[in-house]
This record gives sequence, C-alpha cells and structure tokens, in this order.
Amino acid sequence: MNLRHLIDFNDMTTTDWSMLYNLTCDIMKAPDKYAEVCKGKILATLFYEPSTRTQFSFQAAMHRLGGSVIGFADPNSSSVSKGESLRDTVKIVSGYADIMVMRNPLEGAAYAASLYSPIPIINAGDGGHLHPTQTMTDMFTIFNEKKTYENLNIGLCGDLFNGRTVHSFIKAFSRYKHNKFWLVSTKELKLPGYIHEIIHNTENEITITDTLEECIGELDILYMTRIQRERFKSEEEYKRQAGIYILTKDKMRKAKPDMIVMHPLPKVDEIYCDVDDDPRAIYFHQARNGMYVRMALILMFCEANRERYTDLNAYPLPQNKFCNNARCISNHEVYLPELTNDNSCAYCENKLT
Ligand code: CP
Repeated sequence: MNLRHLIDFNDMTTTDWSMLYNLTCDIMKAPDKYAEVCKGKILATLFYEPSTRTQFSFQAAMHRLGGSVIGFADPNSSSVSKGESLRDTVKIVSGYADIMVMRNPLEGAAYAASLYSPIPIINAGDGGHLHPTQTMTDMFTIFNEKKTYENLNIGLCGDLFNGRTVHSFIKAFSRYKHNKFWLVSTKELKLPGYIHEIIHNTENEITITDTLEECIGELDILYMTRIQRERFKSEEEYKRQAGIYILTKDKMRKAKPDMIVMHPLPKVDEIYCDVDDDPRAIYFHQARNGMYVRMALILMFCEANRERYTDLNAYPLPQNKFCNNARCISNHEVYLPELTNDNSCAYCENKLT
C-alpha cells in the first residue's frame, strides 16, 4: 500500500470508508482476532494541545492491536520547548515510529507535517479547522443508529465557527443528499464561509437559526458542541458567548422519541447533567466507538510502505506571508512552502485575497 495521510475525512473515498466501517464492526465483534495484528509496530502520538478521548483512544487502540506507543501529551516535555520546528520534529519521530497521530493548535499543522513525513500522519485536530477521526466516530455512530446518511434532520448547535468537529462533520455529509441541516448558533459563532459554501453546493438543505427551540421537535440528530474557550481572543469575548445554548430535560421533552443527542465531548455546561441519563443521549457510547474506529484506521494505515516525503523543491518558499489567517501554521513555521488550492491556502483552506 502506498503512503497515505488522513488530514481531512474526505481523504478517504466512500469505498475506503465503507471498508473501514466494516472492519470496525468486525473488530467490535471479535477483538481477540486482532489482538496481535500490529505486533512490532509503533504509534507516535504528538499532542501539542490537551486531549482525553482522542489521545487515549488512539493509545488504547494501538495497545489492543498488540503494538506500542511513544509520544508526548505536552510539547513542553519535548524539544519543541527548545524551539525545534514542526518539520524537524516530524522528520525525527517518523524515524522511530510507523504511524503518527498529531494534534496542534494551529490550522493546517497536520497537513504541514505530512509534507515531511515518510509515514502516515493522522490529523487528531488542527486548531479550529478539522478533526477527521472524530468525524469517523460520528459517522460510525450515526450509521449504527439511523442506518443511513440521507434524509436526516440534523441540528448542529453551539460554536460552529471554532468547532473543528462540526467542520469535518459537514464536509463528510457533503457527500450525501437530502439532509436538512439546522445551524443553531449566535451570529458571532456561525459556520465559517468556506464550510457553509461546501454544504450549500450540495443537494442538502440549510436553515440558520439562533434558537434550539425552533428545530428540536424536527430533529433526528442533535449534535451539541462546546463553546471553544481556548480559541477566543479574550475571556470577555468568551463570556459573551458562553451559556447561551443549554440542552435540558425540559427541552428534550419536545424532541422526537428516537432523536439522538451527540457531542464530541468534552462538554462543559451546554448539556445539563440530567440529560446524560436519557437513553437518547448517546455521547458516551459515541466516544467508546471512537476507540474501535481508530483501531480499524491504524490497521488500515499501518500497512503503508515507508516513502520519502514530498519533494518540496518544486514549490516556491514564501517571500511574504501568503495566508492572512493568523491561526494558520504557514504564519508560524515560516519555512513552509507557499501551497494553494483553487485560490485557497492549502494548509488552512482560508480564501486568499
Ligand atoms: N472529542 C475530542 O476530540 O475530545 P478530546 O479533546 O478529549 O480528545
């Protein structure tokens, strides 16, 4: 198998996704069969940003496949704290491991890492941009519950601007048809334009609202999200947005008996704790599915041949900043080549002006 990376959910074809879904089901049914399939393989987990689910589920997944894990949960415990570049860190760690999982607060970081890596890079969240393995978890859970990805009423509520799980989720659903998306947020936290455009250009419907009450009775899926405190410029700005959308038992009374409540977690105050006991609240189950989906992903990607990283000599080194997104990796790791796609930054997908 050729080297491949998972930066965006749609890096996988629908056939890949269907294989991965089936492999996940098989692993769940007969985990013992897979207990040694990655014996001798090493997973590196490079977390430049905090994580519970993604980090531990990847680590547990590799252990359950019989492989080993190296990595850091805090870049200050590595030579990143001495100023080592992302490029050098990736070149070094890829010499020790067979597959690398990376979370970074900067948008496009996993893509940047993939340029220098001879082993698969898995994006475990790049700032407020994308989180494809959360989307795999979400898509797996949705199919198990609803048996379809079409004709669904889906409410996405909370921080749609900074919520990388929402962006990846919508990109994944852009492959399917006849869904109705209810985008529930304040105007400050509405979906970024480029993500809105992606879903707008498909055979799916979008309704924008600022109240959960307007749509909860219609929904098949309610996907709640946390207001992403760490992405705000100031605590004051965060406080103006916090606590606006709270799912309560009372609101759940207006929902359909088979509506499911999803959340990528962690949750803070956007779901009142008594909702946890409602059988329609499936977020803890969703998180557990994530471990099995990641087992299947590791298994699929670990088979890749080690290859030389992309020859970057063909690309110009930027003379000036070319992307005006301050949260883009290209504005922090200045050696990165100027890479674009359809007049958008190839790292963070920001439109170039
Ligand atoms: N869903 C998710 O990414 O959770 P963590 O931040 O705990 O990894």
